[in-house]
Amino acid sequence: MGLYKDFRDNPNRMVDKWMHYFPVYEKHFGRFVNQSVNFWEIGVCMGGSVQMWDRYFGPFAQIIGIDILPECKQFENGNIHIEIGDQKDTEFLEFLVDKYGPPDIVLDDGSHIMSDACQTFDFLYPKVSKNGVYMVEDMHTAYMSGIYEGGLKEPGSFIEKSKDLVDSMNRFSGLPTAFADTIFEIAFYESIVCFEKIKWHNNFRSLHTAGNFNITTTNENIWGNVVGTATTHAPGGMATLETVPIKP
Ligand SMILES: C[S@@+](CC[C@H](N)C(=O)[O-])C[C@H]1O[C@@H](n2cnc3c(N)ncnc32)[C@H](O)[C@@H]1O
Repeated sequence: MGLYKDFRDNPNRMVDKWMHYFPVYEKHFGRFVNQSVNFWEIGVCMGGSVQMWDRYFGPFAQIIGIDILPECKQFENGNIHIEIGDQKDTEFLEFLVDKYGPPDIVLDDGSHIMSDACQTFDFLYPKVSKNGVYMVEDMHTAYMSGIYEGGLKEPGSFIEKSKDLVDSMNRFSGLPTAFADTIFEIAFYESIVCFEKIKWHNNFRSLHTAGNFNITTTNENIWGNVVGTATTHAPGGMATLETVPIKP
């Protein structure tokens, strides 16, 4: 059964999601179904979503629901664990990592206040497992001023932070490569930003170009530093561009 059908036909506790989130969830979370996934959702509220995730991910999943409201503890059951604390409290988050292990998926559906979303990301993104997913939803709040601290192109909004991370994932930007070393994809949807992590097994990307050609090139960054060279092979062979990032 698809996740959207489960959401739509759910006779149990209330789940608070926008309809267009479901294809996004299926796309990024689908590969974890029936795996021993360590899934964390920040924001439990009425308890319906942790129950939905428990049904979706199956019997091997560990579902960790995090909320600031003590009454959410009542939704703990079976594979669903509820932890009470503030999403921006890094000591609390560290305790959870120690207790449950590194999350494979973090879904931030918590306060949606920009400083909270940014601080939680800064602490938890590095803790997410190497092929894991970090998703932040309800980011329409990134365009709402007042309590949410958002606004169009507002410095400090999670959307602005995510746009900056697009530069950080590109090694030719000349920015430090720590983030680039961990990221495969940043996907933007309406109200959602999703980070797909990956572990690169070396410090450079290799671009392989197959075919009949003969080239020698160097590539420079904006400071004029050589950042890559292409080696030439016989017709029908393969050229390799090894891009060695140079830190500014
Ligand atoms: C949008 S609701 C979660 C909805 C739920 N995930 C669902 O889909 O049905 C947001 C929840 O985040 C919790 N919350 C607000 N601020 C928080 C914070 N600083 N840390 C942890 N949880 C917080 C609220 O108590 C509320 O239950």
